Amino acid sequence: MTAEQIRKKFLEFFKKKGHKVLPSSSLVPEHDPTVLFTTAGMQPLVPYLLGEPHPLGRRLCNIQKCLRTDDIDKVGDSSHLTFFEMLGNWSLGDYFKKETIEWSFEFLTKELNIPLEKLAISVFEGEPENNIPRDEESAEIWQKLGMPKERIVYLGREDNWWGPAGKTGPCGPDTEVFYWTGKSPVPKKLEPTDKGWDEHWFEVWNDVFMEYEKTEEGKFVPLKQKNVDTGMGLERMLAVLEGKENVFETELFLPVIEEIRRLASKKDERAERIIADHLKSTVFLISEGILPSNIERGYVLRRLLRRAIRYAKLLNLKEKWYLDLIKKVIGIYQDTYPEVRTKETDIITVWQKEEECFAKALDKGLTRLEKILKSKKEKIITGKEAFDIYQSYGFPLELTEELVKEKDFEVDKEGFYQAQKEHQEISRRGAEKKFGGLHPPTTHEDKYQMAKLHTATHLLHQALRQVLGKKVHPVKSSKAGASPKAKQFNRVKQMGSDIRPERLRFDFSFERKMTDEEIKKVEDLVNQKIKQDLEVKKEEMEYEKALKSGALSFFKEKYPERVTVYSIDNFSKEICAGPHVKTTSELGKFKITKEESSAAGIRRLRAILE
Ligand code: ALA
Repeated sequence: MTAEQIRKKFLEFFKKKGHKVLPSSSLVPEHDPTVLFTTAGMQPLVPYLLGEPHPLGRRLCNIQKCLRTDDIDKVGDSSHLTFFEMLGNWSLGDYFKKETIEWSFEFLTKELNIPLEKLAISVFEGEPENNIPRDEESAEIWQKLGMPKERIVYLGREDNWWGPAGKTGPCGPDTEVFYWTGKSPVPKKLEPTDKGWDEHWFEVWNDVFMEYEKTEEGKFVPLKQKNVDTGMGLERMLAVLEGKENVFETELFLPVIEEIRRLASKKDERAERIIADHLKSTVFLISEGILPSNIERGYVLRRLLRRAIRYAKLLNLKEKWYLDLIKKVIGIYQDTYPEVRTKETDIITVWQKEEECFAKALDKGLTRLEKILKSKKEKIITGKEAFDIYQSYGFPLELTEELVKEKDFEVDKEGFYQAQKEHQEISRRGAEKKFGGLHPPTTHEDKYQMAKLHTATHLLHQALRQVLGKKVHPVKSSKAGASPKAKQFNRVKQMGSDIRPERLRFDFSFERKMTDEEIKKVEDLVNQKIKQDLEVKKEEMEYEKALKSGALSFFKEKYPERVTVYSIDNFSKEICAGPHVKTTSELGKFKITKEESSAAGIRRLRAILE
């Protein structure tokens, strides 16, 4: 069975059981500020699990793109991944344990024809101190379906409790289904060993009974409604059905792994798997508009990029190895997730830039680290040393930790954060000295100034699209080339914006320096629109309608159903939260003060109003 057949079968099955299909949400959570990424299919559903009525009803299912980095150290074993797809079904205060377990069982044994003899089950052992009972009910349901008693184990919170995805939120006990992938006979009992689970037991499905909410105080209180949240890992299920002992041999990975082997001059299975996994995650993250940076989501992306580059070095991969691998990943996913194809150029440019600057620094940093290790009597790297390596060579803390751990050294993490804090403090004081103190925009005048710069940003965006967007520059290597389809799009797209009362900053996609003539043309066009004294019109409409009417949006995934659209004559139309001025003549004179590179394929402009 192929991945696509499993996706279809799953949705069809739950549709027949009265579920409505939701589209996959963005990897960047829209409603939940407590987490960086969508780590499970339930995450976009949090408000509904807490009791808000869902417009599609009480029974839902979908296939969700997920990203998890908690288990990044385990990537390389048979089943752990950072990016994966989760197939899930939900009951929002509708059915509960009986139907959930019966349907999981039916889908596995009837639809996918998995023999019962290969399966084993775990359930929650209970927590009397929190008033949460042992889950005899689930165990009984499994037994009635034919599961022998000895293949049902009761385990604690570590294994059989799920959620919340952030610090607070819906959670509950779960029952998990395991499949024996080993060639040897299925063990009589499902038991974790001292070293954890045997790698041949694949956890393939998790049925969570979300009947509690974890509060700020760390208490578990019963929810208004009893929910069900299930998750079945697509990659693992595919391995099971293809009769493979690990996820990297399935059609969702094999083309990438084979390409790595072709490009490598050394062999190391774990390194191959890490590169394949991390590269895939970066493709999906960049396709959602995330760029590498030193904080939050951008930092996670950077960590994945750099960790992959480090392992590529271990395997001695041929130069520009990532181009071929990106193509393989896009080839695997383009029909299911078209964004990986439409964002191919962004993905390649981010990789090019990151690889260019980090591959060189990596060698130097490794030499430096080696020296530090040799000079040590005790097996500990100070925070300052780790911070210095981060500052000078761009090694994320986790990478340094991993490298030194291989030689039984540790990093003083607290010391690292302290050194980072001190460094930030010094930079802040420097900036204050330079600019005479930072003042937040609280005055009425500052706010007005910022509204003017907001409007100027829209004029600038459109002027850039007219002056630069339509020309197509040949891309150097055919491998790095945009697809013919991508060339039909306007190449200028907003990638970021920052407004302070005294200036605007605008990042946009464009792969080379702008000429003086082009800068002048853009300035002139903006100033012409200012002189024409055009009205800035504000309208509210449905997001889909706004897009159809040609309004530009920044990142498509982030908008609610109804949005505000600002248009300036026939010149500019954008979805934006504002605020803006009433007419363009309020802006005065527009001037670009700086043009520079921001990241690979991304230029940064600064501009002022005089
Ligand atoms: N939210 C549950 C999980 O991720 C289904 O395992």
